[in-house]
Amino acid sequence: MTDRMRRLLLGTALSLSLAAPLATTALAAEVARPWMDTKLSPDQRADLLNKELTLDERIGLVHGPMAMPFLGAKLPEGAIGSAGYIPGVPRLGIPALQESDASLGVANPMNVRPGDPSTALPSGLSLASTWNPETAYKGGAMIGKEAHAKGLNVLLAGGVNLARDPRNGRNFEYLGEDPLLAGTLGGESIRGIQDQNVVSTIKHFAVNDQETQRMTIDVKIGEAAARESDLLAFQIAIEKGKPGSVMCAYNKVNGAYACDNPFLLNKVLKTDWAYPGWVMSDWGAVHGVEAAVNGLDQESGEQIDALLAPGGAGKVWFNEPLKAAIQDKTVPAERLSDMTRRILRSMFAAGLFDNPAAKASIDFDAHAQVTKAAGTEGIVLLKNKGDVLPLATKGKTITVIGGFANAGVLSGGGSSQVVSDGGPGASIPLGGDGMMGPFRTVVYHASSPLKAIRAKAGEKAVRFNDGSYPAEAAAVAKTTNVAIVFATQWMSEGADAPDLSLPNGQDALIAAVAAANPNTIVVLETGGPVHMPWLDKVAGVVEAWYPGSRGGEAIADILFGDANPSGRLPITFPADDSQLLHKDIPGADKPEFSPAEITYTEGADIGYRRYAKTGAKPLFPFGYGLSYSHFSYGDVKVTGGDTLTVSFEVTNTGKRPGQDVPQVYLTNAAGTKTQRLIGWSKVALAPGEKKRVTVTADTRLLGSFDEAAHAWQVKAGEYQVAVGASATDLDLKGGAAVKASTRQP
Ligand code: BGC
Repeated sequence: MTDRMRRLLLGTALSLSLAAPLATTALAAEVARPWMDTKLSPDQRADLLNKELTLDERIGLVHGPMAMPFLGAKLPEGAIGSAGYIPGVPRLGIPALQESDASLGVANPMNVRPGDPSTALPSGLSLASTWNPETAYKGGAMIGKEAHAKGLNVLLAGGVNLARDPRNGRNFEYLGEDPLLAGTLGGESIRGIQDQNVVSTIKHFAVNDQETQRMTIDVKIGEAAARESDLLAFQIAIEKGKPGSVMCAYNKVNGAYACDNPFLLNKVLKTDWAYPGWVMSDWGAVHGVEAAVNGLDQESGEQIDALLAPGGAGKVWFNEPLKAAIQDKTVPAERLSDMTRRILRSMFAAGLFDNPAAKASIDFDAHAQVTKAAGTEGIVLLKNKGDVLPLATKGKTITVIGGFANAGVLSGGGSSQVVSDGGPGASIPLGGDGMMGPFRTVVYHASSPLKAIRAKAGEKAVRFNDGSYPAEAAAVAKTTNVAIVFATQWMSEGADAPDLSLPNGQDALIAAVAAANPNTIVVLETGGPVHMPWLDKVAGVVEAWYPGSRGGEAIADILFGDANPSGRLPITFPADDSQLLHKDIPGADKPEFSPAEITYTEGADIGYRRYAKTGAKPLFPFGYGLSYSHFSYGDVKVTGGDTLTVSFEVTNTGKRPGQDVPQVYLTNAAGTKTQRLIGWSKVALAPGEKKRVTVTADTRLLGSFDEAAHAWQVKAGEYQVAVGASATDLDLKGGAAVKASTRQP
């Protein structure tokens, strides 16, 4: 019996058992389920199924509650439990959507699925630091596999909002400040997820770049600037990853809520980019039925819309109100049909009908290796004076200080929080006001760096001090050859950092230890850039970000040279507060849910591009990172024509095998000075080995978006590039003539 026959028979049995006596024609239609023919395209299958839906079934597919007991609601019947739930249509064999957060692993909010842990990947900034699309794909595939084995079929993943402000509380979930880097890695991780027959979102569309007043802030940005920056990251990731769903954001964009924004949803996404999937709202981001007309296809976490709207004006909008609007034709029936068609199309495309998610066992040991490899590759070596690193495993004594290094490694807070399979090493309920108050718990994944360091250097050679008292820590540090201070900065969804200092007096701790021991190494576990007033006093700095559920072992492998650092910064570290675009984050002075506004005066010049314009010197530039090897670049060749192609040689001039990330920046576009990353390569090289690397520019990065012509335009002229090890280390130069061209938006 073929698969197809089996499904048709199953369809028959199901329909017969569910249905009362049926007219022969109706029976024939139900029995056939022609949309289950896998030879048809997702579009054909969606069309066939979509026309079978009744009005009530359609309404049922376009809204749903949270799938956890929250804000007085119970776990909905049929929901496995996680972020959201959309009931299916058993009559037609449409599975329910079981939606889970999964920016960094499959979440389990409020322990709604007791005893159901997952593998926690390193933070998004750690992934972006790998500059490695393959690592992004593997991480996505791992998350997708775990979700499928838990019966979850939609992952709320793919955060590609750009880091416009280093204080943004969710930078750790995202992929840095550059649209090409974020779009490329975001796309690969989405592709990895969806290859496991699970839908992935991309989120939060768009310009949701700060947490302060995230539900109310109105972001003012020009069209060209948006298309060349934040929107470009989405566009590239959508092209590469083809996510089944786009999650629109909480904030307003140029006056209209992002989930009720015809420019963003109908024009940019669905018309210009011909996006075929569905737009789901963020949880509590819908403000009225007209959002359907403006491009929203599904209301998620609906009880938040009903409960949190100011003045009690909220409702579940896509239930009765939408039905009434369809009946009185204020929302056209074709729009509702398009909404469900888009949902079904993505479900078919990702394989939700053909290979439904179902309980299965998870190979946590194999997945531990995936997260450990990613965590190791994401670590960025920022300073290594006198080659203090890597440490010798024998003959040296070490004091490990602070950062709960005895318990585990830090993770970021909010909806992306993963309950990891090793259990929490420590869990500290901070609490706090506002919508995210109940979620404000600091969690350390149980992968202790102290334990991993002791495993390499020996129990007796390693002392530990918790770092509570700087003078005491310094006194212990004095007794050993090396001191390693673990410094943490907890960041979370729902709040931005008020400043970039290390909290809880850790700057003073590091200064005291560094004064006592010249071989002081600082290991940072931060959500983003921090200030380092002690930088000149310490010998080494390692940025480990939030390194995932095997992060302790990853850090130890870097410290002792079992792995050669190959991470490069995906975000600029400012030298001081004067380099921040806004002294205070707009809206920070008002209570949550107050109206607020921010104007992106920097336009598309985010991060290193703005530093290049102003000439300001950062603490550490975008693209920067050291290795235990050394690399040199030479013989650059640039060819022009329709686009730029840049090739050059990379040589490992050091003594260890290692990976380098040479970067290619556009520095002059037909007479206009600029700086834009147009490509890079992650190259593995043995000592003495040389490889030629070739990078071809996406023409959107050479040109600009012309609002009047409604197209990307590349001007004819001479284009200059520089190849280097970071955005400010650019010595190899070249150029070529590029032809004029136009590309549709
Ligand atoms: C977050 C989303 C998340 C959703 C569901 C929202 O508060 O902004 O990223 O997917 O909650 O948990």
